[in-house]
Amino acid sequence: MKEPARHTVTAALPYANGPLHIGHIAGAYLPADIYVRSLRQRGKEVLFVCGSDEHGAAITIRAMKEGTSPRAIVDKYHALMGKAFTDFGIHFDIYHRTSSELHRETSQQFFLKLYDNGAFSEQEEQQYYDEEAKQFLADRYITGTCPKCGNTDAYGDQCEKCGSALSPKDLIDPRSTLSGSKPVLKGTKHWYLKMDEAQQWVEQWINTGVLDDKQHHDPKEWKASVIGQCNSWLKDGLRPRAMTRDLDWGVPVPLPGAEGKVLYVWLDAPIGYISATKQWAQDKGVAWEKWWKGDDSRLVHFIGKDNIVFHAIIFPILLKLHGGYVLPQNVPANEFLNLEGRKISTSRNWAVWLHEYLERWPNRQDELRYCLATIIPEQKDSEFTWKDFQDKNNNELVAIIGNFVQRVFVLCHKYYAGKAPEAGEATVDDLALWSTVHASIEDIARDVDQFRFREALQAAMNVARAGNKYLSDNEPWKLEKTDPERTRTILANSLNVTAVLALALEPFLPFTADRLRKMLGLSELGWSEVFRKDLVGAGQILSPAEHLFKPIDDAAIAAEVDRLHAMEPAQPAPPFTGQPKPENATTPKANIAFDDFVKLDLRVGTITAAERVPKADKLLKLTIEVGEAIPRTVVSGIAEYYAPEQLTGQQVVVVANLEPRKMRGVESQGMVLMAEDASGKLVFVQPKDVIAPGSEVR
Ligand code: MF3
Ligand code: ZN
Repeated sequence: MKEPARHTVTAALPYANGPLHIGHIAGAYLPADIYVRSLRQRGKEVLFVCGSDEHGAAITIRAMKEGTSPRAIVDKYHALMGKAFTDFGIHFDIYHRTSSELHRETSQQFFLKLYDNGAFSEQEEQQYYDEEAKQFLADRYITGTCPKCGNTDAYGDQCEKCGSALSPKDLIDPRSTLSGSKPVLKGTKHWYLKMDEAQQWVEQWINTGVLDDKQHHDPKEWKASVIGQCNSWLKDGLRPRAMTRDLDWGVPVPLPGAEGKVLYVWLDAPIGYISATKQWAQDKGVAWEKWWKGDDSRLVHFIGKDNIVFHAIIFPILLKLHGGYVLPQNVPANEFLNLEGRKISTSRNWAVWLHEYLERWPNRQDELRYCLATIIPEQKDSEFTWKDFQDKNNNELVAIIGNFVQRVFVLCHKYYAGKAPEAGEATVDDLALWSTVHASIEDIARDVDQFRFREALQAAMNVARAGNKYLSDNEPWKLEKTDPERTRTILANSLNVTAVLALALEPFLPFTADRLRKMLGLSELGWSEVFRKDLVGAGQILSPAEHLFKPIDDAAIAAEVDRLHAMEPAQPAPPFTGQPKPENATTPKANIAFDDFVKLDLRVGTITAAERVPKADKLLKLTIEVGEAIPRTVVSGIAEYYAPEQLTGQQVVVVANLEPRKMRGVESQGMVLMAEDASGKLVFVQPKDVIAPGSEVR
């Protein structure tokens, strides 16, 4: 296939319903950013678009939970996410939003064109309706048991556990997330995309890359997991899918008789890539079409695995039925990132939030980018731990990159008063150094082009590794007295390797690369110069030696782990689904034997003291008398509901034989029973009359 003239790169529009965490970054935005930076370095024409996904039930549910409007929610998180991206060096050409006027127009026009082209069938449907909330229930407002895997918290449109796309009627035992009640079926009209008619070409296009007798992509370049997920979906047969919803937040359906209906968010959101492009073009005064319609444009979507079907099947169908658009060349989806042995969970606050990270690790964006880039879940789910973050910082950033650069700068200052030395004739050793460096450089580009970012980063690190080895093998510090000529050559080569290193690292560690380049007194470098051995000319004035990275000690890491546990709600977590879970739907639990019940040591306790836990907004440290010689210390996540002064003298029920657990450095010796309502409000479970502390509860 011939070299594309331009690359249109998109990163999944994140829902504006919460802040960004490391899972988002490792799964989509960091790989996309590395890809784009690398292409740009190599002189390719690239457009990198993203924006906030501001419609759909994800937003209205969040607004409901926070007791505010969808508008307030999207404004808040759009700003927060945009800033987090900028802060971490993830620079989109435009970070747009789907609640904009231009997007409304663009998606309505797109819908109408599909309508005119006969893409939809109109169907009067029996749909779930919540009689208490008096509302039709969008897919996300319904949860139930997944028919495929038995997950009891599957959503009406998708099971996050097994990845199956669902429709609400597939769910066993459906519940409304609005009221918790069992929804009833009621008639409503919707527009269905005739996906069944696309079955054949989609199957062929995905598996062979051929469409309309033209080769569009090489299926070998697609990840097996992506093709696999598509095929398992295709195997079941594509079925018509509703492209409209009964909801009051979204892009209104531009047809008569469609009052109160909006475009399905999965129609609306991907068109967000197009409207973002239009907005960017408008701002720049250039044309937008070629990025989406030019045969010589290469469209690539960076996403997480939960978005595969939408980007590799549904959006391509929409683009083709609309006509005039290119289809994606690749959809390099990633798997999920776990955190300290568990799934990342927004609702359980089990996450490392981007905007908070920088408060505790100011100016250390590259340290996080580095660690995440080494664990991008390219082939399977991967895991972030703070210990690994520390190890990679200390053993790789400090020990490999930092150490190499530091040694070279120190020696150049010591021997040549901070001026770059001139290389003399090259020895076999010098040629070997350069050939290793150049091979690594070639590896980086090849790996990036194949979406193998972890390997690409290793190749970039190999440049620094080669430099370190060259220094250790040649020991210029021992030679300087006896052979100043050779010493100069060794240091000139080493210094030039640091310059190549700056180029090699730029896509991954842009802040560090920039700093290193400035230390060397170099202006912006292009990839065309990456094979030069004389980027730093003789006589070039060098900045003083500085440490590019600082070691991280155990205490800082322990504090992070403590913090993670402390931020979690103190009550035991329900099974993790990895996704925000509608809080007010209580899942019925399986029966337990009486023998299991009596294993609980429940006792009445009297709170004798209460204080806040420093730096943990939600936690109180309680001292509770339970009829033992020494009162218990219990850490409880109730600080948002009770002030410490309200608590002394209150009687509560304590689980006295719960395994003690450390939170924020305090050992919690039990748990206080609370009742929680649908809005998340917590109240104590208390004996009706005062009774001696230590009394058993049965
Ligand atoms: N907001 C969706 C999510 O977070 C992704 C939307 S990607 C787009 O899962 F293509 F629809 F924009
Ligand atoms: Zn499932």
